[in-house]
Amino acid sequence: MYWQLAVERITSRWTGQNLVSRVIPVDPFDIVIFGATGDLARRKILPALFHRFVVGQIPDEARIIGTARRDINPCAFVAMVRNDLHAFASTAASKTEALTRFLERLQFVRLDATGDMGWSDLTGFLRPELKRAFCFSVSPTLFGPIAAKLYTTGVAHSESRIVVEKPFGHNLYAAQQLNASLLRNFSERQIYRIDHYLGKESVQNLMALRFANALWEPLWNARHIDHVQITVAESIGVSGRGEYYDSSGAMRDMIQNHLMQLLCLTAMEPPTRFEPNAVRDEKVKVIKALQPVRSMDVVRGQYSARDGKDGYRDHAGNADSLTECFVALKVNVGNWRWASAPFYLRTGKKLRARSSEIAIMFRDPPHMIFQDSEWPRGNALIIRLNPNEGITLHNTIKDPGPGGFRLTDVSLDMAFASALGDLEKPQDAYERLIMDVVRGDQTLFMRGDEVEAAWSWIDPIIATWEDARDVPLPYEPGGSGPEMADVLLRRDGREWRAIG
Ligand code: BG6
Repeated sequence: MYWQLAVERITSRWTGQNLVSRVIPVDPFDIVIFGATGDLARRKILPALFHRFVVGQIPDEARIIGTARRDINPCAFVAMVRNDLHAFASTAASKTEALTRFLERLQFVRLDATGDMGWSDLTGFLRPELKRAFCFSVSPTLFGPIAAKLYTTGVAHSESRIVVEKPFGHNLYAAQQLNASLLRNFSERQIYRIDHYLGKESVQNLMALRFANALWEPLWNARHIDHVQITVAESIGVSGRGEYYDSSGAMRDMIQNHLMQLLCLTAMEPPTRFEPNAVRDEKVKVIKALQPVRSMDVVRGQYSARDGKDGYRDHAGNADSLTECFVALKVNVGNWRWASAPFYLRTGKKLRARSSEIAIMFRDPPHMIFQDSEWPRGNALIIRLNPNEGITLHNTIKDPGPGGFRLTDVSLDMAFASALGDLEKPQDAYERLIMDVVRGDQTLFMRGDEVEAAWSWIDPIIATWEDARDVPLPYEPGGSGPEMADVLLRRDGREWRAIG
């Protein structure tokens, strides 16, 4: 079944009686993590599985099999996971009994992803009657070889699922090769391409907001919306992962996937059903409707050094780097809904704050009757991804008092944490996504053609920079990016919302 809710919320709409929450356990499964001693597995995948185990969603019969080439014995692996859970899973310290039971579910197999070592041991751990999921928590260069091995060794069966992470290719050609290498041995319905933004509660809420309320749809078009701003600002730099980042840059690392997904969910037509292909078909249509971006509509930046240190180039270990860690761009979606209402996307490292949001900026009232007042700011609907996930609606009201008739901007504010209470605390995106893999629901995963369509649109933008050896503009750490990013909007008579 595509959409089996993990958490059922039953609310009484009329009495305001609040929530009863019920976790529906998934069926027993075997999950294999390739690269189990790596960062992603240790910081994200294993803590996510632990949290789902603590709330009772993962049954005791489930097994988690870590594999890696590293020579550690199973006991050392379990000890490592125990330490990691204390470090990365907030509940580990208080749930000691659950922690012990969770660790009993773990196995470790030393395995060479491209050679023969370990594959028959792995087969021995898997139970024929259960669903199998394989997480490729490894370098993308190993995706194809592992998929082939899974097939030739018979470790994967026709109901097995494989889970791959970004980066999914470096350009269109590489993404096509990667897709082809997976599709050689698995069908599309078995491939789960993760973009962790789709697992964020607030991103899924964007779909609920749009398609579970009748209020917004009549307004959700260029007739009422002036433009949309999508910002994903980070306060951290790239130190610690400079080498990877320098070969990627913000366009590949963030725009091609995370911001593109946010754009798609904001711009897409209502799907006929909340089902994997119905949703993904609509997202692909949006990507295909994106107009080519003119070079004057893109701004690239690199954070500078302070007191001669900690600049992007220091962190990247490349004194001549031309890689951008900030991008702002104006995107036109060429269809009836969005013609004349552009999307402005912006993302960068070392900015003023960690702050991500989608801002729907509505048009001004068509005629102003309050002659003596300043023209009110247009309404804006802000969907906050972080911090403080929630929704804010900016309205214009009368400034109180008898002296004249002035207008002021106030907001209706809903922070999900306080509106929904502890019960619905945002989970890490991976919790949702991994449970969806087990349930066999691909709605929140990228389809192959979707990834390729995104690269088809991105590639020419990057090619223009590379051909011209375009030099990113320097910007001060702790600010809002290069001044030219402000000009990009000012030129159109608009301005960015402040970061943070
Ligand atoms: C990752 C990028 O995919 O997303 C990182 O590689 C970025 O560069 C991260 O920092 C941001 O994710 P989040 O969930 O912290 O907004």
